[in-house]
Amino acid sequence: MANKKSSGAVSNAADKAVTKTKTVKKSAALPKITVKEHKKVIFLGSEAAPFIATGGLADVLGSLPKELAKNDDLDVSVMLPLYSNIADEYRNNFKFLTNFYVSVGWRRQYAGVFLFEYQKVKFYFIDNEYYFKREGNIYGFYDDGERFAFFSRAALDAIARLNIYPDVLHCNDWQTAASVIYLKGMYYGDENFRKIKTVFTIHNIEYQGKFGMETFADLFGFPDNVKQFVEFDGFVNLMKGAIEMTDIVSTVSPTYANEIKFPFYAHGLDPIIRRNENKLRGILNGIDIDYYNPKTDKCIFKNYSVSDLSGKAVCKAELQKMLGLPERKDVPIIAVISRLVSHKGLDLIKDTAEKLLSCDVQLIILGKGEIGYENYFRYISDAYQGKCCVIIAYNQDLSRKIYSGADLFLMPSKSEPCGLSQMIASRYGTVPIVRETGGLNDSIKDISEDGGNGFTFHEYNSDEMLAKINQALTLYSDKEKWNKLVNRVIKTDFSWKKQAELYSEMYK
Ligand code: GLC
Repeated sequence: MANKKSSGAVSNAADKAVTKTKTVKKSAALPKITVKEHKKVIFLGSEAAPFIATGGLADVLGSLPKELAKNDDLDVSVMLPLYSNIADEYRNNFKFLTNFYVSVGWRRQYAGVFLFEYQKVKFYFIDNEYYFKREGNIYGFYDDGERFAFFSRAALDAIARLNIYPDVLHCNDWQTAASVIYLKGMYYGDENFRKIKTVFTIHNIEYQGKFGMETFADLFGFPDNVKQFVEFDGFVNLMKGAIEMTDIVSTVSPTYANEIKFPFYAHGLDPIIRRNENKLRGILNGIDIDYYNPKTDKCIFKNYSVSDLSGKAVCKAELQKMLGLPERKDVPIIAVISRLVSHKGLDLIKDTAEKLLSCDVQLIILGKGEIGYENYFRYISDAYQGKCCVIIAYNQDLSRKIYSGADLFLMPSKSEPCGLSQMIASRYGTVPIVRETGGLNDSIKDISEDGGNGFTFHEYNSDEMLAKINQALTLYSDKEKWNKLVNRVIKTDFSWKKQAELYSEMYK
């Protein structure tokens, strides 16, 4: 009974959500009646804040749908796996809607669907404990291919079961790439599915979802007609399949959209991107400026705002105290908050860390990732106690204490689809030093340019980076000029407002 009631409620809402704004013209005597109708968009993804987060994708899926939902013409939902790691404070409020069985190759697997409405966005969670009740991380299991094949297929079946067919299905990264392939290659016989347009967003082209060809039918259950799209270099490549079959491919900055046409950035997919160039778009991400707000953030030591930055000095002093660094106002703190993986440009930091630490600076590094980087950063933290503090962790609370307490934020990525940390740092008045790539190039302008809001360098080269850091340190010692720059940085608008409009346009 409970099931029926809940799914009924969902399909009623869905029934009202039809396409386009139609102007109904009647005879001259009658007034024009404008019927406002919604466009329905469903996002599919493997993580979204605040429910489950391991990286930038979660920030985007937690904030872009919320911004889009402010647009009365859009009806926005998100579908996620129901991981056991989602906190009870949310789970306890999830409402069971329905359950059914899903084909995963020759397997039949249970899927439950739960609904939770949060900040005007409907979040649907696909339940299957065999796949999503795991210890620790949400990725990195031997059967990730199977887990996300299940999720991608269950999401489509849930759409049919709940009768919530969207106008646009917006899939993100390899974990939901199979949804595009199923939809375009297997579900097109059903008119309701055939009408759905798909957007596939690449958040990072490095992770493509590659599996041995033996998984093609056995695991993914793909029909032969999609082999030409899905096969690449003798492997199943889910991202490639989605790029070929989707209506629109988007990525998270205009510069990255151009970069991935070239081998240096594309991890092998450059010919595929070039061939699909006509449907490629690049839209820069935004950040949730209510969540990341130094005026109200409860994680930071003292709140502050553009009009009164005095709290930032308190944040700095308390951060130094907490991390065992000398409490000095005059010494610049350089911060790095990053996943410790190669494309983040950590080799440049490794190359220059000791030179940098011979200057009068304090260096704080927060992140976790590849063991080689973790070990190196532990080593410099021990060798330069009182100057360098390294915390090997992913920690939201601490990250915001660092964003607010630091002076400079270093992000020398080799490649960076968008990058959110440089925007968050700016929001807290911490000046970014970045390499000109991907979204870093689209969000930070060098101080030498009109309206410059940071320091940028071009070549992936440690001497160039060090020269930029030195330029920043010189400016830091000129308080008047520095304060002017901080003011400009903190005022930069990185909200979703304009960016979400670009998405709405794209959906239309
Ligand atoms: C990935 C990218 C990062 C981007 C984020 C959100 O994590 O590496 O650059 O900001 O996705 O789109």
